[in-house]
Amino acid sequence: MTAWRSCEKGLTMLDVRALCKNFGGIQAVDQCSFKVEHGSITALIGPNGAGKTTAFNCISRTMAPSAGEVWLDGERIDQLRPHKITKRGLSRTFQISRNLADMTVLENVICQARVGGFRDLFKPAMAPDEIEKAMGILDFLGITRIAHEDGSNLSFGQKKLMDLAALLMSDPKIILLDEPAGGVNPTLLEQIIGHIRKLNDQGLTVLIVEHNMDLIMRLSHHVVVMAQGTVIADGTPDEVQNDPAVLEAYLGGAMEDAA
Ligand SMILES: Nc1ncnc2c1ncn2[C@@H]1O[C@H](COP(=O)(O)OP(=O)(O)OP(=O)(O)O)[C@@H](O)[C@H]1O
Ligand SMILES: [Mg+2]
Repeated sequence: MTAWRSCEKGLTMLDVRALCKNFGGIQAVDQCSFKVEHGSITALIGPNGAGKTTAFNCISRTMAPSAGEVWLDGERIDQLRPHKITKRGLSRTFQISRNLADMTVLENVICQARVGGFRDLFKPAMAPDEIEKAMGILDFLGITRIAHEDGSNLSFGQKKLMDLAALLMSDPKIILLDEPAGGVNPTLLEQIIGHIRKLNDQGLTVLIVEHNMDLIMRLSHHVVVMAQGTVIADGTPDEVQNDPAVLEAYLGGAMEDAA
């Protein structure tokens, strides 16, 4: 199994500074600042439309931010291309699972993880070392039995595990997970929690967006709360749970929905 790049606790792995992203008149991310400590599991939570996925998109440079800075392990990365960011150790999953058509799980894991830019076009379909590495990761996640299944035949939960496997192929220092447990059944939820804990125990830093509060409270060391594009609270799970601004952000939204 891959040895994750080592982390030193007490240092900042990810530093997001006054990040902004606007779409026309919509300020989806607005002066958003937070830090993720080396070796931590940090949760990014907030009501629907708070700007969490957009923040992930800007951090991983899937989208260009309108303003602000992103620092990874002491190096500024907001002007780098996405594959360069992955090479520096930051990988992310997508809220909607990406599945390449007509490919097995193994092929998906290898191809989704190719981050070398245009040079990858000249690589063989699947190199023996890539197969060995991918099979090791599938084994770690307990899904070797579906390695040769067509990716499009998978259950929703199996797709989430396949995405996680693809993410681990790049030997990341930090992974950004966008709703890894969204819509999965309780058994798989426990498996996913177990995998995230195991990865974190091996030194991998995790930033996770989730709506499942039980998962967040059980798993995270630190919680950052976003609402309307900005950070409204930041602290331990207990601190955040009892913060009036957080209750207002969630209940305010629920009351508007009810109205
Ligand atoms: N490509 C886009 N074009 C225009 N508006 C967008 C785009 N992407 C997101 N938005 C808007 O930006 C705001 C933040 O959306 P985002 O998807 O980041 O929220 P979120 O916190 O991830 O929500 P959820 O919990 O529902 O996934 C929303 O108002 C959304 O409609
Ligand atoms: Mg989202």
